[in-house]
Amino acid sequence: MKDCLKLITERRSITFFDPNREVPLELIKEILEVSATAPSGYNLQPWQVVVVIDKEKKKKLKEICYNQQKVEDASANVVIIANTRAGFDNVDRVLDSWIELGYIQSSAKEQLKETIQMGWSDPQKAKKKAVRDSALFAMNLMITARAYGLETHPMEGYDEVKLREFLELKEHQEPVMIIAIGYKDPNKTLLPRAYRFKFEEFGKVM
Ligand SMILES: Cc1cc2nc3c(=O)[nH]c(=O)nc-3n(C[C@H](O)[C@H](O)[C@H](O)COP(=O)(O)O)c2cc1C
Repeated sequence: MKDCLKLITERRSITFFDPNREVPLELIKEILEVSATAPSGYNLQPWQVVVVIDKEKKKKLKEICYNQQKVEDASANVVIIANTRAGFDNVDRVLDSWIELGYIQSSAKEQLKETIQMGWSDPQKAKKKAVRDSALFAMNLMITARAYGLETHPMEGYDEVKLREFLELKEHQEPVMIIAIGYKDPNKTLLPRAYRFKFEEFGKVM
């Protein structure tokens, strides 16, 4: 419990990564699979990722991110993408697993599939669902990385048109954020954590 709280409260957006310390790709994949235990509506898991590790590609991505140096210095950058078609692309795989595990009878599948797909038919609603679930995955990723002794930095500062072009994204693939991952440069110190609003400022009870 205490360890979990530490992982959350001591997470920071690391501006200074050690450019000489690489994170093995296998470890990044492991972290991503742990992160994928995140909850999602109907378990549709609408997130997709592109892991950018190649040095030249990181340089190009840095330019797309308005020259944020951390993109080049981090060992990897995970671009998190929301699949706004997940209600159609993933539904069979998910419902078949529910049948296998006994959550539902196979006779209930088609009706449930129709209900789910109705919710994903409106493009605005589909985007909201896909981005919401992908953001939960992203937060899991930042906490899980810390559990493995790594640091992260989430970013929304990128030229979306250029990012789409760079990754050859399709229309139904919505970039959510980029998360840089790596080890902190031990020679640099971060400023203290900035002010966080108190419950009285962001909450109410009724
Ligand atoms: C979705 C998202 C996008 C962000 N984009 C950027 C960014 O492009 N560049 C940057 O320097 N920081 C970015 N940040 C980091 C925030 O500035 C940072 O989380 C905030 O100042 C609080 O600092 P802390 O994470 O160290 O507690 C982003 C954070 C989030 C959650």
